[in-house]
Amino acid sequence: MTSVTINGRTVEVEPGTTILDAARAIGEWIPTLCFDERQDPFGACRVCMVGVEGAPAPLPACTTQVRDGMVVDTRDATARRVAGAVVELVLSELPEPPASHTELAAVARQLGVSGTRWPGTVHERDHDDRHPYLALRHELCISCGRCVRACDEVQGTFALTATGRGFDANVAAGLDQGFKDSACVSCGACADTCPTGAIAELSLLDLAPEPLHEVTT
Ligand code: SF4
Ligand code: FES
Repeated sequence: MTSVTINGRTVEVEPGTTILDAARAIGEWIPTLCFDERQDPFGACRVCMVGVEGAPAPLPACTTQVRDGMVVDTRDATARRVAGAVVELVLSELPEPPASHTELAAVARQLGVSGTRWPGTVHERDHDDRHPYLALRHELCISCGRCVRACDEVQGTFALTATGRGFDANVAAGLDQGFKDSACVSCGACADTCPTGAIAELSLLDLAPEPLHEVTT
């Protein structure tokens, strides 16, 4: 077993356990966006940063494995600043705030991020709504890759593809012909994992509450 101290509490975990899993096992909260416990960690968003004693900078909790004797501070001020800045940047690219029931809105609330200091170019609205059950709102996509991995790793359908780079990064169904004409089998795994509501089941879209807060522009 490996001994790790998290926020002053020492626990024994299996070798190879990530900081995130060890923290969650004792009820400590670490913000995440690209992580889904049903998928292999991806390490893309940098929202799950934590302080580790002796490390020169915060480390991503979802991909960093604990070492024996490691001392972790999930509330480290620098790590929280990094996470908050990442969420602010993500929000700054959206043309509207995420609906309050989404993971992105929850993480923003928990980190105390209610807008962005960096207003700029936002994604143009672009909806794929020809599928009878699933809608894709490209402008709400933050390129976390969870839907693509859900489709590949969980469902084995390979109907979704990551496209573009940087600001233009997004997802496409099939060869960008839309959900309706792709290999999609309507399992809903993509909508279930999407942290922003960019992919949503139409029935849930109808029930979605109003956005909790406005992005400051
Ligand atoms: S559609 Fe949703 S799950 Fe897929 S990459 Fe974009 S934000 Fe992530
Ligand atoms: S949740 Fe760890 S890098 Fe995204």
